Amino acid sequence: NKFSIAEIVKGAVALGEEVVIKGWVRTRRTSKAGISFVALHDGSCFDPIQIVVPEALENYESEVMHLGAGCSIIATGTLVASEGQGQSVEVQATALEVVGMVDEPETYPIAKKRHTFEFLRTQAHLRPRTNAIGAVTRVRNTLANTIHNYFYKNGYHWVNTPIITSSDAEGAGELFRVSTLDMANLPRNDQGKVDYAKDFFGGESFLTVSGQLNVEAYCLAMSKVYTFGPTFRAENSNTSRHLAEFWMVEPEIAFANLEDDAALAEDFLKHCIRTVLEERADDMAFFQQRVDKEVINRLTNVVDSAFVHMDYTDAIDILQKSGQTFEFPVEWGMDLASEHERFLSEQHVKGPVVLKNYPKDIKAFYMRMNDDEKTVAAMDVLVPGIGEIIGGSQREERLDRLDARFPDQETADHLWWYRDLRRYGTVPHAGFGLGFERLINYVTGMENIRDVIPFPRSPGSALF
Ligand code: 4AD
Ligand code: MG
Repeated sequence: NKFSIAEIVKGAVALGEEVVIKGWVRTRRTSKAGISFVALHDGSCFDPIQIVVPEALENYESEVMHLGAGCSIIATGTLVASEGQGQSVEVQATALEVVGMVDEPETYPIAKKRHTFEFLRTQAHLRPRTNAIGAVTRVRNTLANTIHNYFYKNGYHWVNTPIITSSDAEGAGELFRVSTLDMANLPRNDQGKVDYAKDFFGGESFLTVSGQLNVEAYCLAMSKVYTFGPTFRAENSNTSRHLAEFWMVEPEIAFANLEDDAALAEDFLKHCIRTVLEERADDMAFFQQRVDKEVINRLTNVVDSAFVHMDYTDAIDILQKSGQTFEFPVEWGMDLASEHERFLSEQHVKGPVVLKNYPKDIKAFYMRMNDDEKTVAAMDVLVPGIGEIIGGSQREERLDRLDARFPDQETADHLWWYRDLRRYGTVPHAGFGLGFERLINYVTGMENIRDVIPFPRSPGSALF
């Protein structure tokens, strides 16, 4: 009764013992010998368990014979070794209770045959019952737990940063506005500027694009911190790599520079990948077989080799000499487009690349100015198939330098508390943001980021 299919398959119940399994029918077929085979899943592992149902059961004709994909049942029986292929154990049913029939099987949107992921997105409420989305859901869960465990074991403090904020941490203007009042009548100061000192019910507020600025405050007290939560970007990017609502993992470390940051990113990513390969071998075998033939090989290589580090300036040189024709011509100072990032990681390095020291003008105000006065201590981690998976930097800890980098005085005034952190006991510190869904895409080999988050929010997606 208390065991899931995963636990039973792993040996929690001895052969010959009684089991009670509750779940949803994936398939049912009838054999000539007057028995039905029901494949039952409960979400706990990739493979369903086989229930062997003899015609002697009293509801065999009336109910069992009508079971099909999607029906919910409770099967009671004896756990036995399976003689059939593909499973080591099966259940010899002594009773089968139907909990919920599928009354009109022809209307069941995800009935047995294969569906495109695009179609399944229109059935976001039923798609967790499919093999692929079930596997994604388990991998996502394993990764989330692994991330928290990694930081917990290494002495980091999980800090819950706010979702409603008044600042644009990335300065990219991709904010969703949270409105409590008439925008035409915001409280203004004597100069006619919006008065940010007012509480958020009286001022302008937004959904956060990043917890970084807030987590920096905790870093400069707790030394090692991270935030892991939902973030929002109102960018109208209709790509397979962008969501309007996604989860971000943002560690921040004190007394640390860009090299420390890059070392953390590498150790952390490898740990995440290693754990999924070990703990979700069943799901990974599915992804390898049905989604991306190279995925396990690729991940194993990543775990076994050191990340290549490269300066932005060298990357520009490599791209210019590559002989490739890019849609966007390559010149120093430009922001790299996904075609450039993918060339570097997929063709040039053939693995993860840590790209460092970007031109100051294409990066956020908080990144630390390098001695050349032209570049900042930024890093992006680029991986094959995805492009940018991590973006991070060493932060500008020197007040005068920070002040020189604010886009305008209004931003500086608004971030008075962020300036305070540089006035009172400042220290060098660094951190990064990992897009959680991009990590799941990378680890599973799934094509589209909309298929690795339960209910995707992006331009044009149905709202469930
Ligand atoms: O590079 P980004 O914008 O960096 C920051 O937000 C920093 N404040 C992070 C930090 O240093 N603490 O975003 C970080 C990562 C990207 O590398 C990408 O993986 C992911 O977040 N990301 C998105 N994922 C899905 N959909 C989007 N629209 C995303 N935008 C960024
Ligand atoms: Mg970035």
